[in-house]
Amino acid sequence: MEASLAEKSVLITGAAGFIGSHLAESCLQRGWRVIGVDAFTGYYAEWLKRRNIAGAGRDSAYQLVEGDLLELDLEPLLDDVSVVFHLAAQPGVRISWDQFDVYARLNVTATQRLLHAARGRELERFVIASSSSIYGDAETLPTREDALPRPVSPYGVTKVATEHLAQVYWRNFGIPATCLRYFTVYGPRQRPDMGFHRFLERALADEPFEVYGDGEQTRDFTFVADAVAGTLAAAERGRPGVAYNIGGGSRRSLNSVFELLERLLDRPVGRLYRDSHPGDARNTAADIGLASRELGYRPSFNFDQGFEAQLDWQRDVSADAAPAV
Ligand code: NAD
Ligand code: UGA
Repeated sequence: MEASLAEKSVLITGAAGFIGSHLAESCLQRGWRVIGVDAFTGYYAEWLKRRNIAGAGRDSAYQLVEGDLLELDLEPLLDDVSVVFHLAAQPGVRISWDQFDVYARLNVTATQRLLHAARGRELERFVIASSSSIYGDAETLPTREDALPRPVSPYGVTKVATEHLAQVYWRNFGIPATCLRYFTVYGPRQRPDMGFHRFLERALADEPFEVYGDGEQTRDFTFVADAVAGTLAAAERGRPGVAYNIGGGSRRSLNSVFELLERLLDRPVGRLYRDSHPGDARNTAADIGLASRELGYRPSFNFDQGFEAQLDWQRDVSADAAPAV
């Protein structure tokens, strides 16, 4: 049964992270009650995650549960919740070679544990973060959801497994699980291991940054507000058992982004071109036809504006991170 707007409660895992913290704010703006779960894993600085949730944390409709999905008693968290947004994971494609046990536990085991705990609940939707990385070097660009998954990183392999778990729990237990294949999300609060964060941080400090490969690789960069809009649309209209591409409609090369950065800073930015990294796809591009038809999803942010918004945020973060003199 659909809960009325005012009484809706949602569970967000990974709520202190980049996308999860924006999603929590949008849910609160809709008048929903939000239970946010986060373990503050050590993948990147805790202070950044605390900063992400500072605003939401002041809202009386927000409850933060600090704990690990692998250990928490999940049953009580699902009481009275009508939508689950499962974003908690170990992200990042390039380090997934060496720490695969972490990826397997956080992306596969934790997802299975949450899905298992959700059996028998009357959930409207169970929305799960998947990734464009399941496609690897896709044969066709833009890539449709029915393309054969051929990940090129161990991280991508765990996201394929995540999607299969969603299918298994939908078919056997009727859990209305919908997966979203986000394409390289950017904007304020972007994780510090991600490209734009690194490029901007170094460029603002007037230091060169490393580019993996020749810089001509392309990504279908997705502004975080569009990723959130797609996630909310999936909570309303996502078909259970289905995965949707959530792309930004802004496919471009890294080198073209560096040119934009130079225009915005009005000076050259230093780059150190290195070997390309194992695990990186050369190009990504989302066919968003399915998400458009079924979710009504349409990315609405212009790339230059979105990139400038991240630049502004990055200036604030750099100022906060700078040692006091
Ligand atoms: P993030 O690392 O900023 O957020 C994930 C959060 O989950 C972190 O705060 C972490 O502490 C928490 N977490 C991890 N494991 C946990 C556990 N077992 N229990 C409780 N909390 C746990 O990452 P993000 O960039 O916001 O990504 C969110 C989701 O979207 C992830 O599933 C990621 O794989 C997926 N995704 C992200 C992108 C992107 O471009 N950022 C693209 C595709 C898919
Ligand atoms: C991103 C996220 O990090 C993954 O969690 C997510 O699953 C994935 O998007 C996705 O879309 O599925 P990625 O595309 O590698 O992965 O995003 P970035 O880390 O921002 O990297 C973008 C590009 O910049 C890549 O080609 C990468 O090689 C390059 N890069 C990154 C550099 O050249 N230098 C760096 O220091 C960092």
